[in-house]
Amino acid sequence: MADVRRPSFAPISAPSGGVLVVLTDDSLGFGPRTRGVLGTAAAMVAKAAKAERFTGKSGSALDIVAPAGLKASRLIVLGTGKAAERKSQDFVKLGGVVMGRVPAAASEAVAILELPDAALKPDAAADVALGATLRTYSFDRYKTKRKEGDEDAKARLTLGVADAAGARRAWASRSAIADGVVIARDLVNEPPNILYPAEFARRAAALRKLGVGIDILDVKAMRKLKMGALLGVGQGSTQESRLVVMRWNGGKKGAPPVSFIGKGVCFDTGGISIKPAAGMEDMKGDMAGAACVVGLMHALAARKAKVNAIGAIGLVENMPDGNAQRPGDIVTSMSGQTIEIINTDAEGRLVLADVVHYINTRFKPKFMVDLATLTGAIMVALGQQHAGLFSNDDKLSAQLTQAGLDTDEKVWRMPLGPDYDKMIDSKFADMKNTGGRFGGSITAAQFIGRFVGKTPWAHLDIAGTGFSSPSSDINKSWGSGWGVRLLDHLVAEHYEK
Ligand code: BES
Ligand code: MN
Ligand code: ZN
Repeated sequence: MADVRRPSFAPISAPSGGVLVVLTDDSLGFGPRTRGVLGTAAAMVAKAAKAERFTGKSGSALDIVAPAGLKASRLIVLGTGKAAERKSQDFVKLGGVVMGRVPAAASEAVAILELPDAALKPDAAADVALGATLRTYSFDRYKTKRKEGDEDAKARLTLGVADAAGARRAWASRSAIADGVVIARDLVNEPPNILYPAEFARRAAALRKLGVGIDILDVKAMRKLKMGALLGVGQGSTQESRLVVMRWNGGKKGAPPVSFIGKGVCFDTGGISIKPAAGMEDMKGDMAGAACVVGLMHALAARKAKVNAIGAIGLVENMPDGNAQRPGDIVTSMSGQTIEIINTDAEGRLVLADVVHYINTRFKPKFMVDLATLTGAIMVALGQQHAGLFSNDDKLSAQLTQAGLDTDEKVWRMPLGPDYDKMIDSKFADMKNTGGRFGGSITAAQFIGRFVGKTPWAHLDIAGTGFSSPSSDINKSWGSGWGVRLLDHLVAEHYEK
């Protein structure tokens, strides 16, 4: 696993050195325990705030070196803005902000989790720990030399809380989620020569330790199931395709599972419809959907979620080759529907077509959510701030939209309909794998929709959010691990009794 630091919890007390972080709001006041820790230094803070025009705005900080009257070598006063404007999600962000403010050189830091009006509740304290943990993530596995100025915040962080035992209990499940995000980021960041389909499948199989049932289908097994759409994509690669099914049974015996399906194109050259050279290295991240599903299944299993859940990932490598699929080929999917290949670079939908059909018919799930770095067009439409949401179900859509706001992994619903669907009708087969330049993300979603049947389904196009997205207070990594927190929250809010 990549380098990541987890904070610990302790009762509130003054540190004997290192960095001290305290919280204030736009009143510039402190809670009673914080005042106790600051003692005579509180007066100096008021003076410094005036001199620096520090007003306690959310995200702003007052940084005081060698504060008189304190054993700490540095005092950082963090603003949290107006109490009335605070959202639950802000505590995760706050954890990231705390780690971001601790200088790289510091080895110890203590943050007092108390606002002027109240000490943070255990859940909020655990949220801070989650944000702080995610902020420290870095992927250095392939760096053999360290350059000066390279190092990120790596201080050991202690969170001073009113109820340390309660915070530790709340952290148990948050820490499972943090690990899930880290797993997803690691998978996305790994280079494609190391993380090819069989190796990806092996890493997913590590979930067995947590009691997750794992089935790995190799090419032979998929041929038997007649998965011609998925297999066509992988046939040009010397790396064999795989399909991994992960089963977590934490819910009622026999209750239909929720299901999550990920596009796992370990590298997407475009195939015979080859991509331009510039930026092609980013296509190692074309398995971000699959990475999210593995991270999510880890989170659900590690926090023993009371739900039955299926995770499924279609793992292929899309290569040009003498044996590669051609534009003009017609393949038969497991569902029996035939597909004319127009562009071999529209491969993700072909992989999903067979995995979605397989999961739907084998498990009769309560719903299916698929995640895929599917189209460049979704970035044109939504930028990198929202994933595209396409769905046949208003309730599932509303739940995902709200979960997006709660976790700050936001989704924006896009249209589907028969007028778009007919754009992928083919002259020679039941459908073709591209719908032309217009509405490219929508016709891609329509394509997957043809394999869904009547099951409630949502497709998340994460081409803009899965990797190389703008860095945030809780993410400095190229592979973002996007979607793990979103979908864990969806399950926790609506599908666990
Ligand atoms: N993996 C790409 C989409 C993508 C592009 C994701 C950039 C992230 C960043 C996908 O397989 C693809 O190539 N899509 C094509 C579809 C087209 C050929 C219909 C695209 O978006 O151009
Ligand atoms: Mn492609
Ligand atoms: Zn792709």
